[in-house]
Amino acid sequence: MTDSAHLTIDGKDGDYPVMAGTVGPEVVDIRKLYGNTGRFTYDPGFTSTAACESKITYIDGDAGILLHRGYPIDQLAEQSSFMEVAYLLMNGELPTAAEHDLFVRTITRHTMVHEQLATFYRGFRRDAHPMAIMCGVVGALSAFYHDSTDIHDSQQRVIASHRLIAKMPTMAAMAYKYSVGQPFLYPDNSLSYTGNFLRMTFGVPAEPYVVDPVIEAAMDKIFILHADHEQNASTSTVRLAGSSGANPFACIAAGIACLWGPAHGGANEAALNMLREIGTVDRIPEFIARAKNKDDPFRLMGFGHRVYKNYDPRATVMAATAKEVLAKMGVTDPVFDVARELEQIALSDPYFVDKKLYPNVDFYSGIILSAIGFPTSMFTVLFALARTVGWVAQWNEMIEDHDQKIGRPRQLYTGETHREYVPLAAR
Ligand code: ACO
Repeated sequence: MTDSAHLTIDGKDGDYPVMAGTVGPEVVDIRKLYGNTGRFTYDPGFTSTAACESKITYIDGDAGILLHRGYPIDQLAEQSSFMEVAYLLMNGELPTAAEHDLFVRTITRHTMVHEQLATFYRGFRRDAHPMAIMCGVVGALSAFYHDSTDIHDSQQRVIASHRLIAKMPTMAAMAYKYSVGQPFLYPDNSLSYTGNFLRMTFGVPAEPYVVDPVIEAAMDKIFILHADHEQNASTSTVRLAGSSGANPFACIAAGIACLWGPAHGGANEAALNMLREIGTVDRIPEFIARAKNKDDPFRLMGFGHRVYKNYDPRATVMAATAKEVLAKMGVTDPVFDVARELEQIALSDPYFVDKKLYPNVDFYSGIILSAIGFPTSMFTVLFALARTVGWVAQWNEMIEDHDQKIGRPRQLYTGETHREYVPLAAR
């Protein structure tokens, strides 16, 4: 490790401390750069900038590694549960049996939403996108739960965190129910977190709903795979919103708004649409050729990642889960065959190999979600539901960080310089 980085600007020398984490690239602490030199750094898209210190999630994109609190994502997906991962992300350690029971009981007790929140839903058009509804209703929680919006009170922060995690399935299911014109279902707290969500989404008051354990396990796994992903765009949005002291409900609503974008949470929908467009295995070469053609804007959706230059470890689990769910449901979806074949062809094609383009988490998730019965418009809502755990954990970490300051980037100004105002009559 180097202790400091030496920088000379306009003949002025300066030493900047180099900080090392437990693993991953070291960072150059340039906080004093402006004071010393009168210069800013320029890094739109934050491709070389660490915006915070964190102990929650680590990604090594070259090696295809994703760790939550040190635990590999494939081990968590195979052996853990979403509730346990939520506890882990928030508290730093896997829970003991007693801690686990208490956590699940606490979350379960918060699953209902204020009765008046239902009237919010009724204010939306029936054809509103469920993500539009989620942006509104999650932000509105701060109008209903005043007793957990004081961010300086650690107990209120815990209660707000539990409320957000517990109420997201209820609110997501309500968004779906509203769009299909069916009555909202109250939570049934005898069910698991994920089973409860499936019942509130697909059950109706007229009939009993039996949770299918294979679907429940697959859904739980999908939630685990989406629970957190380091300082991605929506998480950074939550942190930036929270840095001003905004309440947690407002911050998570900001995260949902950011996640909605097609470059972030919307890619699984695009991947499924592409697989459906390809339709049959014999058409794959045509689409591979298009993806490689510089003059064609087409890209293989669900392939490539800003950070992963190797197999996205979440995609491996997702592919196996897709196979399991389709088999269980007796679905012989040709889209799955297209996906498997496309993956094989792309992974042996020099274009994709040289550019290190591998399937990402979105490549298979749409196939599973569609087989379970979700319309594509709900895909990003499910992502938001799961990512709320990560957002909440990262928000809490930020609030407890003594170095935390309001986030305030600077800019490279390229507009007009000073000029005198010209009265309207003289223009
Ligand atoms: N198909 C074909 N070519 C691709 C693809 C693709 N899916 N992805 C990247 N490339 C090519 C680019 O054309 C570029 O080629 P060039 O160097 O000859 O110009 C090169 O690979 C690098 O691509 P960039 O866009 O510069 O890489 P970046 O890291 O900025 O983009 C991204 C990553 C946006 C994910 C990109 O791979 C992509 O568009 N993939 C398809 C969309 C997708 O699946 N998004 C989901 C991401 S996962 C998530 O958000 C949860």
